Amino acid sequence: MRLRNVKNATEILNNSKVLIKEPTQYKGHFQELFGNNNPIEIEIGMGKGDFILGKALKNPNINYIGIEKYASIIARAIQKIDPLDLPNLRLIDTDALKLGDVFDHEITKIYLNFSDPWPKTRHAKRRLTSDWFLPVYESISIGKPVIEQKTDNIILFASSIESFSANDYLLEEVSLDYNSEDNVETEYEKKFRAQGVKINHLIATKK
Ligand SMILES: C[S@@+](CC[C@H](N)C(=O)[O-])C[C@H]1O[C@@H](n2cnc3c(N)ncnc32)[C@H](O)[C@@H]1O
Repeated sequence: MRLRNVKNATEILNNSKVLIKEPTQYKGHFQELFGNNNPIEIEIGMGKGDFILGKALKNPNINYIGIEKYASIIARAIQKIDPLDLPNLRLIDTDALKLGDVFDHEITKIYLNFSDPWPKTRHAKRRLTSDWFLPVYESISIGKPVIEQKTDNIILFASSIESFSANDYLLEEVSLDYNSEDNVETEYEKKFRAQGVKINHLIATKK
């Protein structure tokens, strides 16, 4: 994602109602933050938030948390989401590397949409479906992790399938040309589809 400096990003984050400040204080208690027992789903690397916002509007009985590591990008999501005052949508500005400090066995589903591909082999560990991240997803998930992935990038997709298979995940809805009535598009997806790029998709569930 191109990083254009958003003026006052810090101020936007500080004044946001939808951003969870100091999220580690809710570790293991995120349902209390939402004030209900509804499932909690997260998107890691949500960018400017179109997908997570679309999901929250469509499914009021599911709680959503969008996660993004760059302040200037999450600020754009906040500008869109704050005025809507949705009870089932919150955001966290953190790196996925730290998710084990934030959640404890409370996430029902994880979305990875158009994650950075890290195509060079020497960077493979940084991919969000690498052997390093899968144990983190186990520690934050309630029950067996369920991960839904969409990507344009075939190297990332192939490496994800390899990693999920090696770590005892069942793969479903694997497609190299994903289309579904239930689909909620992301910003990147909209751009790719407009260019005629086919979208890879899967759902991985730990056996
Ligand atoms: C290519 S963009 C995709 C954005 C959005 N999911 C979409 O599909 O339009 C990837 C996003 O993931 C974020 N990101 C990458 N690595 C991350 C990490 N380790 N933790 C949190 N966010 C991350 C980037 O800052 C960027 O906003």
